[in-house]
Amino acid sequence: MLIKKPGDIRSSEITDRKVYLSRRNFMRGAALAASAAATGLVYRRLLAPEVEVANPTARVAPGSQSAPKNWGLPGEEATSYQQVTTYNNFYEFGTDKYSPARRAQVMVTRPWTVAVDGLVNRPKVFDVDELTRLFTPEDRIYRFRCVEGWSMVIPWLGFPLGELLKLAEPRGNAKYVAFETANDPKRNIPELSEYQSGLEWPYVEGLRLDEALHPLATLAVGIYGEPLLPQNGAPVRLVVPWKYGFKSIKSVVRVTLVERMPPTSWNLANSEEYGFFSNVNPEVPHPRWSQATEQRIGEWGRRPTPAFNGYADEVAGLYDGMDLKYYF
Ligand code: MTE
Repeated sequence: MLIKKPGDIRSSEITDRKVYLSRRNFMRGAALAASAAATGLVYRRLLAPEVEVANPTARVAPGSQSAPKNWGLPGEEATSYQQVTTYNNFYEFGTDKYSPARRAQVMVTRPWTVAVDGLVNRPKVFDVDELTRLFTPEDRIYRFRCVEGWSMVIPWLGFPLGELLKLAEPRGNAKYVAFETANDPKRNIPELSEYQSGLEWPYVEGLRLDEALHPLATLAVGIYGEPLLPQNGAPVRLVVPWKYGFKSIKSVVRVTLVERMPPTSWNLANSEEYGFFSNVNPEVPHPRWSQATEQRIGEWGRRPTPAFNGYADEVAGLYDGMDLKYYF
């Protein structure tokens, strides 16, 4: 885990914004053009190097002020912007990996509000831009592990969920936090019916309050120092790096403090396969996917999956005394 505070070097100080944006636009265009035709494997292995070759300006002399930022983790490269923004799960916009990058563009992400309500002393509806004024987004580079067995390293831009919750002042009887994705014709019209997707709308998720207050739990508003794209859950989404990716609900409009464990989309769809906690656990296989290893997107072969996705030192204490094979 790597958290860089805003006081640390920022992307804008390192990579010239024009170079960065032209690189980014190139990546988006190339990715969208390719996604329709390419298979996942060809796409992942062949397109990424093209991006580097096409952008020699992104490589500058060592020691230069505009040297590219190292977005990775120690010993782990960040997944390319192009891969993070085109290989997605967003069932409202398709059940395959490549449709969301195209279909989610219909989302209207401004104006956008996030309601914080339920068992709190100070409920409030925030404009999303007010949130980023109140809580300065910082770079947070996290491993991201999907229950399907693929993983990425993603440089998010976001702020701790706990800061927002504390501002709302949870009451003593608040034990869980429920999250809801937009399901509103003015902002986000799921293109898939509930029948097509196998999920009920709106997509909902939940955390125990102590999990939600953990400093690693993040509300992300960007990736690689740039605003989130619709397919990644614009304008604001949850990121819980020690849990399987489906807990990281996208395009959040409501955060509700509740007393009882709230329903969650995948658990509603299949409670035998998807538990409420869904901590990354290499010892508990999913009925269809072993969780012992993972395919890092952009790499050949598989690598072992660490407990809690590598964040055990930080979060294992949240589950002291719990049998995590039972509470999966
Ligand atoms: N949030 C909503 N609203 N709808 C979804 O289908 N998919 C989840 C999660 N959040 C999903 C969602 C799953 S299964 C994963 S793995 C991650 O989003 C994928 O995030 P990414 O596309 O940014 O990598």
